[in-house]
Amino acid sequence: MARPINLRTSMRSVTIKHATSSSSSSSSSTSSYDWTRQWYAVSWVTDIPLNTPYKTTLFDVDYVVVRTPSDVYATRDACPHRLASLAEGRVTTDGRLQCAYHGWSIEGDTGDIHVPQAPRGKVPCATMYPCMVKGGLVWLLPCEGADAVTAPPPYVPEELEHDDVAAGVVRDVPIDFSLLLENVVDYDHGLFAHQVSGFDLYCGSLDHPQEVSTSYDADGRFEVTMTTKALPKVLETNSLSDTASPLTATAIFKSPQFVSACRFDDEGKTSFKTVFWLVPTGVGRSRFLSKGYAPGKKKGLPRWVQHLFINRFLDQDSHLLVTEQSYVLAEEFKAAAEKKPLKRDRVYRYASPGEKLLAAIGKWLDTTVPKQPGRYDALKSVAALARIAPAFTTAPREITLDRWSQHTAVCADSQAMLRNARWLACIAAAAAACLAYRGVQVLASQGGWYCVAHCAFSAVCLFVSAVSAWIVTEFSGFRKTALSRDADLRRIPTLFPDQPGVSHSATP
Ligand code: FES
Ligand SMILES: [Fe+2]
Repeated sequence: MARPINLRTSMRSVTIKHATSSSSSSSSSTSSYDWTRQWYAVSWVTDIPLNTPYKTTLFDVDYVVVRTPSDVYATRDACPHRLASLAEGRVTTDGRLQCAYHGWSIEGDTGDIHVPQAPRGKVPCATMYPCMVKGGLVWLLPCEGADAVTAPPPYVPEELEHDDVAAGVVRDVPIDFSLLLENVVDYDHGLFAHQVSGFDLYCGSLDHPQEVSTSYDADGRFEVTMTTKALPKVLETNSLSDTASPLTATAIFKSPQFVSACRFDDEGKTSFKTVFWLVPTGVGRSRFLSKGYAPGKKKGLPRWVQHLFINRFLDQDSHLLVTEQSYVLAEEFKAAAEKKPLKRDRVYRYASPGEKLLAAIGKWLDTTVPKQPGRYDALKSVAALARIAPAFTTAPREITLDRWSQHTAVCADSQAMLRNARWLACIAAAAAACLAYRGVQVLASQGGWYCVAHCAFSAVCLFVSAVSAWIVTEFSGFRKTALSRDADLRRIPTLFPDQPGVSHSATP
């Protein structure tokens, strides 16, 4: 099952044959897991502007990606000349990446370097990393040479494989990949942190446990699949569940970064599916890419509207993960200093039947996280320590939940909406003031109805201005204040009453 894909390498375009199932299964076992020999979705295509260098990071290494109308290529974000950031540079009209410092430029398809001061001189090529577009995402393979040749292909579900898939959610969170992955497959937290009853259908109970199986897919990727009856578990009733003929709830993790969740019927049909690609940006930080879709249907809400909701959703527990992270990373690095792996089942207490999937993934993380490239550089290098130090403390909510830097700055649609909303808020406010003023002026000359009409239009403009101003604040920065958190806390007992013995039920 070799699937050829044309990729760019540092010297020339070659055909890469992906590893067959038999050879890669053994080499990708958890004990020898190679994080660099994996493709990573790093961004939605539409969030990378054409002909503009785009910085992205994997395992604390910065890369620069360039998207031209016909190509996408990547190299390290350090100029071969004197290591200045290439992301600060520009793309020439013929598609080369040009450093802003002394003007050296790199050919995307060969890595050839042009030196303006020595046009006939010979300079070794820049190292280019395989890069491609698939499923509406830009993918990067952080290795080269023979390793790149045998890497399994990027994974997207079959129904999303075409390149024009609409973009989903993006958010850069100050949370380690390992903790973010645990959070995404932790269904017990949904009732409490998000106050959403649907999560309960994915939980486990003694009567309806989570069935968990592990395997390797045809391309050698580690996979964990959880299934359970989509019945209430912690709650006693749930209007989202048909108890007479319940659906099956499932969640799948496929290494290195893919998670999906849905409920399906006896024929395997599902009406809605959520997929995630979790990007291991570095120690204590990661990028959250996700998409919810109804298979077979193309249209959904405008992207920026979806992001209004998802930002609120992510704000609900991101800070909790940061509080947890400072302890977990401290334990992990302490164990690493003693040349031992972190054993998550000794740091956490797995006590819920809904944590079976979580525990299985925890075991995979125990053995593979220590193999992440540069994971423990901080134990040897002051520079690496300084870079990751913030992950070992809990920053204030204003920093851990800053929507501008985490979302809007990296989301093209939200940026456009923010710009438009700023203009609209000002223009509508000015129009409201003019109409109100004119309404008062015409009161004497043209009578009451003219005045009422002007005031009514003024009120509409005022409303538009207020809504626009609200959108501006939603995309501009910190929103999840302690007051907002307290409002969430008050909703918990409406789903799960505090009094023992009181029935737990939920309506959507
Ligand atoms: S540092 Fe890039 S051209 Fe000199
Ligand atoms: Fe957005």
